[in-house]
Order: sequence, then C-alpha cells, then structure tokens
Amino acid sequence: MIKIAPSILSADFARLGDEVREAEQAGADWIHVDVMDGRFVPNITLGPVVVEAIRPHTRLPLDVHLMINDPDHYIEAFVKSGADVVSVHQEACPHLHRTVYRIKELGAKAGVVINPATPVSLIESILPDVDLVLLMTVNPGFGGQKFISSVLDKIGQVRRLLVERSLSHVDVEVDGGINAQTAALVAQAGANVLVAGSAVFGQADRQVAMVAIREAGER
Ligand code: DX5
Ligand code: ZN
Repeated sequence: MIKIAPSILSADFARLGDEVREAEQAGADWIHVDVMDGRFVPNITLGPVVVEAIRPHTRLPLDVHLMINDPDHYIEAFVKSGADVVSVHQEACPHLHRTVYRIKELGAKAGVVINPATPVSLIESILPDVDLVLLMTVNPGFGGQKFISSVLDKIGQVRRLLVERSLSHVDVEVDGGINAQTAALVAQAGANVLVAGSAVFGQADRQVAMVAIREAGER
C-alpha cells in the first residue's frame, strides 16, 4: 500500500489551512511539512507556529521534515505544535541516536533522512531505532527539482536491509521530483511513502493528481 504525502511547500502559503483541508478531502494520507533554516539548506520556510496553525485543519498525520542544523533545539517545539512524525537529516546530527530517542520520548514517530550523495551505510546502525527512513531524491531546498535516478539503488538497499532484519514495519519514504512517472520507479524499488509537492499542489485538480501517483505506485 502506497501512502501519498503532499508537501505544502508547493501550496499557497496565504491560505494554508484551506490547502491542507482540500488535500485531505482529495485523498492525501499524510501532510508533508518542509522546515528549512537557510543554513542546512539554501532556503527558509517555516517554524512551529505554522505547524500549530495548520494542525486544526486536518486529522491527517503531519510529517515534519527538518532541513535544519541543530534540530535537537527545535524538536520539542515541533512536537508540541502538532507534528506526528519528525524526521532529521543524518548529515545534521552528530548524535543521531540521541536525537532519534528524543523525538520518540516526546511521543512522535522518528524518521532519519539522507541526501542523494549520502551512502546508506551511514544509517544502517540506526535502522532498528527509527519508524521511517526518508531518502532524498533531489538535493533538499526547493520544490520542483528533477528526480535523481541514482537514488533508486539506495531505495532498494534500504528495503533489503529492512527485510533482512525483520524491520518491515519501518516506512521507506522518498522526497523530490515525484510524479506519476517517477512514482512507479520508486515504488518498484521499495518505497511506500511518496512525498509530492509540485505534482500535487502545483496541479489544478489535486485529487486527479494523487490518484495518478497512487495508481502508478501500486501498479
Ligand atoms: C525539497 C523538499 C520537498 C519538496 C518536494 O527540499 O524536501 O519536500 O517539497 O517538492 P517536489 O515534489 O516539487 O520535488
Ligand atoms: Zn521534504
């Protein structure tokens, strides 16, 4: 079963509440929230106040992707604001195990993210401790970028490791350049949660857009 997580990065920020509500009605499974600090990535987006503002507009899980340095300082604020899943970049966490357990102690699900050039070997030992692995299929920072197909191998590697270690409950999420074409490739490689920004919020009919992605992924 494929889950679709539309990224509000491509939504209309002047009417985020409506956008999130419409995405839920149109069939979204999770809402993906991209947090950028202008340091870890070359763009700035939103903080806990925005998560708090959209929280009453949907019952769907809020999937918060932290593209920030020193995430430890902000995890509590995001969980208190209503984040259900908090994912941190391996590249931003010198004490990844501690950070993952901090997220779980606060009552959220914990995800670990790696950039396209980061090898899977760097997250192998944390796999038993996380609820989700997020593989970036673009370099993080902006919506609407081109899918990097060399990440397909890494999706397969993660999925194989999870099966070998009886960790199949761990979600494998992909983020960046996902549309109906690339959805088929990533799902075949082993991903089960697909983030899509421009391919959902950039389309006039979000329901049609999500059906197309889901059907491609489940084929
Ligand atoms: C990129 C973000 C993505 C972004 C994806 O840094 O993490 O979530 O919104 O946008 P698309 O789907 O347009 O590539
Ligand atoms: Zn993201």
